[in-house]
Amino acid sequence: VAVAVAAAAWLAAAAPAGAHARLVRSDPPYSCGGPGPLAALPESALCGAGAVLRRMPSTVRLWFNEPVAPAGRGVRVFGPDGRRVDAGPVEAAGARVSVLIRGGTPGTYLVVWRVIAADTHPAEGAFPFSLLRPSRPALGVPDADTGRRSAIGLALQALGRAVHFAGFALSAGVFAFRQCVLAPRAPSGDSAVEQRVFRLIDVGIIALLAAEPLALAAQSLSLSAAGEPPFDPDLLGASLDSSFGRVAAQRAGGALALWVLAGAARGRHAGGGAATLGVIACASGLALVDGEAAHAPGGHPLWLAFAANGAHVLGMALWAGTLAGVLVVHRQPSLAPRRREVLRAAGGMAGGGLVLLALAGAVMAVQHLTAARDLAATPYGRVLAAKVCLAAAALGCAGAAARAPLARRGIWWRREAAALLLVLALAGLLVSLPPPV
Ligand code: HEM
Repeated sequence: VAVAVAAAAWLAAAAPAGAHARLVRSDPPYSCGGPGPLAALPESALCGAGAVLRRMPSTVRLWFNEPVAPAGRGVRVFGPDGRRVDAGPVEAAGARVSVLIRGGTPGTYLVVWRVIAADTHPAEGAFPFSLLRPSRPALGVPDADTGRRSAIGLALQALGRAVHFAGFALSAGVFAFRQCVLAPRAPSGDSAVEQRVFRLIDVGIIALLAAEPLALAAQSLSLSAAGEPPFDPDLLGASLDSSFGRVAAQRAGGALALWVLAGAARGRHAGGGAATLGVIACASGLALVDGEAAHAPGGHPLWLAFAANGAHVLGMALWAGTLAGVLVVHRQPSLAPRRREVLRAAGGMAGGGLVLLALAGAVMAVQHLTAARDLAATPYGRVLAAKVCLAAAALGCAGAAARAPLARRGIWWRREAAALLLVLALAGLLVSLPPPV
């Protein structure tokens, strides 16, 4: 997590934070270097002044590369004196956002926008236009420095996602370990082992639930500008009212359902089988929903993007959940007679998860990179490369554990778990960054 936070701060300086929705066209138009975040406004007076118009337009319109929802006020227009000239509500229809404006003072105006994309990621930017003659753009407006805030917002987004992934591994993954590895080898049930396993599942579900308010705080912080309160009720409300809110509700609902169903599957009773099927359905649903908050909505074909994302998340849960399960039960005395058998089965399940991860990860990498050079040339590519290297290190630890004598395996498993935790932190950061495609 510390690595992710440090990497986020470094990457935020190199990339417009979370700019997943791109402004492709505007009216009035702006073409000097393309519309970008305020900090990137060009120095030259001509560029900084944008298009010079003869008549004041009545509306400012923005077109994005994908459907968006305005965040809070969404589009604000500042006049040459720094006062707001936007009037009336911001209208959004698919990928187009517009707002009425008034005024007619000659000089340079500044349009500041912030939206939430279909894939839940926040994006912001600004561009100028001038009436009759250019003047200095009113850079004293509250948004003049969005850089530091969005770096912290990006780090918090990555943290929220990492907590969610860890929670999913500990709940769904550990439950799978209990069903497929432990249950067939301990048909009579073992209360001490069962208790440890369910304690881990509870921790996972609490992490899943805690990740949502964390993600909401990150979203609000990423969208708020310098000079504004960091957790503005308008921005919180707008976030909940967008694709972000829908996904947060689905995830929180899924986590609660998982809690109820996992509890019902505990012990040996008639309804246990149905509850287990419910847990499987719920976990698969949660893995699919994850794609909505990653970059699956931008993948082609869409079905493959969602299937690969879901398979990747399930594979992650199988590997990390099995490892967590092994770590909490392997020393239990009641397991001693069947320890080798249990460990062999656990290795098979974690290996299956790894195969799923590698196949689905390769599909996602092909969908989101333009060429291999993106791995070195873009922040997204660099984080992906670091994540794959760490995953290889985790695999190395797993191999070392398999070869080590039984008494020394715990050390290698703990190293493997630490490497996987860092992989999850980097995955949280990766999904928060704009991909090359
Ligand atoms: C084997 C090599 C791997 C490759 C090529 C790979 C590739 C990727 C790619 C391209 C993404 C980004 C998807 C997006 O932008 O929407 C991603 C996300 C992710 N990866 Fe991997 N990955 C690999 C291994 C792993 C491992 C070992 C883990 C953990 C055990 C892992 C966990 C994740 C998670 C949790 C996400 C986020 C998925 C989501 O938001 O729904 N990956 N991976």
